[in-house]
Amino acid sequence: MYRSRNCGGLKKNDVGQQVTLAGWVHRRRDHGGLIFIDLRDRSGLAQIVFNQENKALHDQAGKLRSEFVVSITGTVVARADEAVNKNIPSGEIEMVATELTILNTAKTPPIEVADPKNEPDENIRLKYRYIDLRKEKMRENLIFRHKVTKAIGDCLDSDGFLEIETPFLTKSTPEGARDFLVPSRLNPGKFYALPQSPQLFKQLLMVAGMERYYQIVRCFRDEDLRADRQPEFTQVDIEMSFCNEDDVIGTMEKIMIYTMAELEKDIDQYRGKHIPKIKTPFPRLSWQEAMDRFGSDKPDTRFGLELVDVSDLVKEVEFKVFKEVVANGGVVKSINVKGGAKFSRAEMSSLEDTAKGFGAKGLAWIAITDEGFKSPIVKFFKPEQLQGIVARLKGEVGDTLIFAADQQAVAWNVLGQIRLLLGKKLNLIDKNRYDFLWVTDFPLFEYSETENRWMSNHHPFTAPHGEMDNLEERFMKDLLAIKAQAYDFVLNGTEIGGGSIRIHKMDVQRQVFKILGFSEEEAKRRFGFLLDALEYGAPPHGGIALGLDRFVAILAGMESIRDVIAFPKTQSAYCPLTGAPDVVDARQLKEVHVRII
Ligand code: AMO
Ligand code: AMP
Repeated sequence: MYRSRNCGGLKKNDVGQQVTLAGWVHRRRDHGGLIFIDLRDRSGLAQIVFNQENKALHDQAGKLRSEFVVSITGTVVARADEAVNKNIPSGEIEMVATELTILNTAKTPPIEVADPKNEPDENIRLKYRYIDLRKEKMRENLIFRHKVTKAIGDCLDSDGFLEIETPFLTKSTPEGARDFLVPSRLNPGKFYALPQSPQLFKQLLMVAGMERYYQIVRCFRDEDLRADRQPEFTQVDIEMSFCNEDDVIGTMEKIMIYTMAELEKDIDQYRGKHIPKIKTPFPRLSWQEAMDRFGSDKPDTRFGLELVDVSDLVKEVEFKVFKEVVANGGVVKSINVKGGAKFSRAEMSSLEDTAKGFGAKGLAWIAITDEGFKSPIVKFFKPEQLQGIVARLKGEVGDTLIFAADQQAVAWNVLGQIRLLLGKKLNLIDKNRYDFLWVTDFPLFEYSETENRWMSNHHPFTAPHGEMDNLEERFMKDLLAIKAQAYDFVLNGTEIGGGSIRIHKMDVQRQVFKILGFSEEEAKRRFGFLLDALEYGAPPHGGIALGLDRFVAILAGMESIRDVIAFPKTQSAYCPLTGAPDVVDARQLKEVHVRII
């Protein structure tokens, strides 16, 4: 009744046909006697002409405004050569209207759907999200996300993975963030936690013999938000039995190959050029190598500027800062900033301030110029010492060498972050590249100075590398040396996934809990159901979770994951559309036995 065809689907071979379209008034242009309407539906735009032959119809068209909902019948005609619009699929034709029904009017929208450059403040975009999503970019992003999700599901299905749902009203899972709590009406004083991930349930599904599980699932984490973090986000959650690290990594690589091939056309369109096929296996870096070379456990390998250790070369220089740091067990790390000698002193000192913001005590530098070295510190170096440093960093005229002297972790972090800033500042990043890689061999534990205790690097169910029989003995020796069977999946410097092989034996799990400082009782109280299950024939198993929002956003070249989520929240976890979170009635609070203090 409303339509016989879609706007974007009309082509030259439809010329002469009578069709009915329905959609929104995208634009209206009055050209004297002619009124042109760009009519929009999900498939795209069609141009409609109202001429003066039918006066009543022409008058009616004059009343149309942006975002009115209409149904229009007419005849498809070819456009004159000079009027062809190559930018839209239906650009070779237009429709001469014979009938118009206004299905609904619209107030003047607070967002200009037809003019994406004129974008209002994000709060307005989120408050009127149903209008914001009408924009071509947002519509395409949601269609693209659908296709990515479907491709991933199809690939997993063809590989024998079952999609199985797990509960949202559950117990706290230890992914390291704060839980969202839900008070229970039927159990006064008790709370459910929304899952930070389905981690424990997917392990239980392995104990249950499901062998291969996946779920496209919402996860809830109460943490401080950033451009790539939302309080609720989506994972492609995967778990498999009788597998090792290579099996899980291989499964994810297969998904990537399949998905990138299925989406090839869409990705090329987003990028405005053909993107070469990705190749597997993706590079694997050990955590140690990633930190040493890039100062990050999620390195962006689309550009160089790698970190170089010069501790051994500077341990005897006169420059006290370097000498003392090395003497005290610290390191001196450096980067050859190619072409950096063009930076002014002011730029260098602003870079140093930035470094201090990342926790550095300073950022020493040596510029190599035609007239020799320019630097606040070269006076403390002998010529052969400088030669050695320049040679190791492959310094040439035009470069600037920068240095951070500190404890290892600080030096990594400072130069890792400075590296990223310089990559952007010097325009070294090819935005059309997709650099996938794996980071493996994470330390199983890390020491938290703030909490004064050992913590799991991934989560407490991650299996250590090496023999399990003499674990207690190994744990006594050097905890930092114990590596995890864990792997992070990185794309263009963003962690888009992570997983591990799990502990499937109770005695090993018990050892790990002991290191983490969980008493037997506490471990029982928090994860007793999993520990019980480990004693009823748990198979070796492992898995991974892909952060779907991040993956889709990077593929589409979006700056924020909010651009690929239909109804996201603001940085302060607020929803301008619904007004959530909001106060509730005293009666509701009473029912769930909660009092506000
Ligand atoms: P992890 O905690 O590493 O692993 O999460 C997996 C991936 O989810 C994405 N992610 C997020 N995306 C958006 N907003 C957030 N707040 C957010 N937090 C995480 C990241 C991350 O790599 N259960 C384990 C997986 C496993 O061991 O199998 C887990 O959840 O891209
Ligand atoms: P100062 O002797 O404090 O004036 O420092 C001389 C230069 O060394 C300055 O460019 C400082 O930024 C730099 N510097 C100071 N401390 C460190 C450090 N820990 N690592 C790297 N450079 C430093």
